[in-house]
Formats: sequence, structure tokens, C-alpha cells
Amino acid sequence: MFSKYADNLRLSELLRYFKIISKKPNIINFVNGLPDPRTVPVNEIEEILNQVIKEYSVTAFQYSITCGIKELKDQIIELVKNRGIYGVNENNICITVGSQEALYMLFSIFINPGDSVAVENPTYISALETLRTLNPNFKGINITNNGYEMDSLRESNAKLLYTVPSAQNPSGYTLSLKERKKIIELAHENNTTIIEDDTYGFLLFDNYVPSMKSLDDEDRVIYVGSMSKIFSSGLRIGWIIANEKVIEKIEALKQNINAHSPTINQLLTAEAIRSGVIDRNIINARNIYRLKSEIMKNEIMKNLGDKIEFISPTGGMFFFLWLKDIDTEKLLEKAINNNVAYLPGKYFYHDMSGYNTIRLSYSYPNEKEIVEGIKRLSEIIY
Ligand SMILES: Cc1ncc(COP(=O)(O)O)c(C=O)c1O
Repeated sequence: MFSKYADNLRLSELLRYFKIISKKPNIINFVNGLPDPRTVPVNEIEEILNQVIKEYSVTAFQYSITCGIKELKDQIIELVKNRGIYGVNENNICITVGSQEALYMLFSIFINPGDSVAVENPTYISALETLRTLNPNFKGINITNNGYEMDSLRESNAKLLYTVPSAQNPSGYTLSLKERKKIIELAHENNTTIIEDDTYGFLLFDNYVPSMKSLDDEDRVIYVGSMSKIFSSGLRIGWIIANEKVIEKIEALKQNINAHSPTINQLLTAEAIRSGVIDRNIINARNIYRLKSEIMKNEIMKNLGDKIEFISPTGGMFFFLWLKDIDTEKLLEKAINNNVAYLPGKYFYHDMSGYNTIRLSYSYPNEKEIVEGIKRLSEIIY
């Protein structure tokens, strides 16, 4: 009945776990990466909304152009200077419905079935799910606590590399400047297009590392950004920065998908950047997540130190654990019975190979819950 494309569509594993967990009111939920409520500046949003409606009236609720309104593009051009990106003009940007739409569209315009696509092992689960619908030939690049496996990237000879180089979801790993330069060099050798997902780039805790895009003088890096972790995830504002040829294709595809991202959300976001609300909020979010990650790290070291390996998060919202020889999907039932839940890490591997790994999200639970949740986890990990 359905198309071949539809046959490849699957509901996210995340959804399955949400359903199980939502039935247990006392569970400590380390599963989803819901932003901390304190990182959404509701009062400022209310003020800006009123101001935008007064100023733009009905225009704020009308159709607008496909790749985004000038007001927001101009502000994004300013914002990404903080990630080292200069020389962007309006024709290099497309505003999307979250970075998820950006990834969906970019993968769609580049990948034919069988094309070799390099992804980090582990990498962002929804990018993998989107990629799977296109039947690529995956090439995995291991990230471990020893770093990034450059040789695999060299050997992959990939057409496309999807990378989350800053405060990666799920591993918390940030590629050093040297590693970034090496990747760009390898991409040059193999003529690989790089999609840089910088969703957490503004949430690096301490050590600033410029984006891959800022190091690229061959126009081979396509940059994807998002407002979801630094302003509001529900507004669904993301963006792509790329050369005009790429943006033209994206524009044609976006016309078919949703015509444009909501006008009012774009106006609101533009004003939030212009007025400094986002800059202040980035500092606030960074501080909140730094503190939570430190609390989680202390508890992990205290309770689980000799049983696991992990990467200390450099930003973002997640811890990734490597257990000894334990199947973490099987272990999850025990965890849920002990009122704590995590996401088995294998879902972040294109080949499901990380059977002994766990992703813990510290973004939503409060500090007390983080402490108690790690204690509960330690009771079931031997
Ligand atoms: C690495 C990464 N990329 C993209 C996204 C999608 O974010 P959004 O569509 O809300 O911008 C997420 C969300 O968690 C993410 O972790």
C-alpha cells in the first residue's frame, strides 16, 4: 500500500521509552533532552511578542518568504559571528523549522541510496533515523574517551560527513581545533561535503572552539544551527548556512514541505537576538548546564567510578557511559523497576554496536533528582 520511502519510516525509539516512562510518576528521567525550563525566558518572550504584534500587526501572521524573513536573517548573520563565521549574506541562509528540518532537507538533497555517508559512532539519534530512510552506506567513525578515529574517516572516502563537533549529542565530546582542521583536510582529499550540526555550539561550557564552518575556505562545510537549546525549542527555529547553490535547492524543497517557517516565530526570534535576550540567555543556559553536569559527574565518579568509562561533557546536555560487558537495553528493565530511566546507547550507533553504552540527559531533572537518579542507577549496575 505504502511507498518504498514510507516502508523505511519508523517511530523513534525515544517515543517507545517516553510511553513506558510516562506511566511511572516517580521515575527519574534521564531519557529525553528536554531543555531546563529556566532556559526559556518566558517574561522576555511575552514582552517581545507584544512589541512585535504592535509593530507588525497582521504582517506577523501572514505568509512570508520561503527561506525566511530579512529581519531574522540579518540577526543570524550577527549571531554566528560568535561561532567565528563571517562573510555570510542573505542568500547564504535558509531559516528552517528547527535544525531537524534542516537535516532532513540537506540529507534529501545530497544522498542517493548506496552513497557513503560518514557518521560519528555514536551520533544524534534522529539524524540517524532520517538518514536511514535514504538507505545510505554508513561509515562509522568511533568517538571514544581516547578521541576521534581519524583513520576511519580517511578510509571512509565518504561523499558526506554528518558531524556534531561541539558538545556532541550524545557523547558530550568536542573536537579540538587540531581535529577540526584535520577533518577539513581529509574532506579535501576525499572531496567530502561536511554537514556541521552546531546545535550545541553556543553551549560550550569553558573552552571556546570555533565552528568547522569558520575554518573552511573551500565552501565544503554546510552549517546547521538551532534556537532550541538557547531560546525555545517549541518555536521551532533553525537555520542553514551554505553557498547559494545549496540554498536554492533547499528553498525549492522547503516550498514543497511547509512554504516557510512561521512568520511570528521568526519576528520574535529576530527581536530576541537584536535586543540581547539571546546573548544573556546563552550565558544563563551555559551556567545551568555546567552546574548540572558537574553534579552528575561527581555522583558518577562517587557511585560508578570503577564500573564505567565516560567522556566528561564539554558542553550541552548529555553524559555517555561505557559499561563493562553489560547489555544496557536488558539492564533498562531493572533500572525502570528501580525508578530511573536512561536511553540505551546503541540507538546512537548506525550499526547498533554500542550495546554496552548509556546516554544520560541531565538537562531536565533538577539537581536533587540527578543525585538520587545516579544513586538508583548505581544500585543496578555491577
Ligand atoms: C545534535 C542535534 N541536532 C539537531 C537537533 C534537533 O533540534 P531542533 O530541531 O529542535 O533544532 C537536536 C535535538 O536534540 C540535536 O541534539
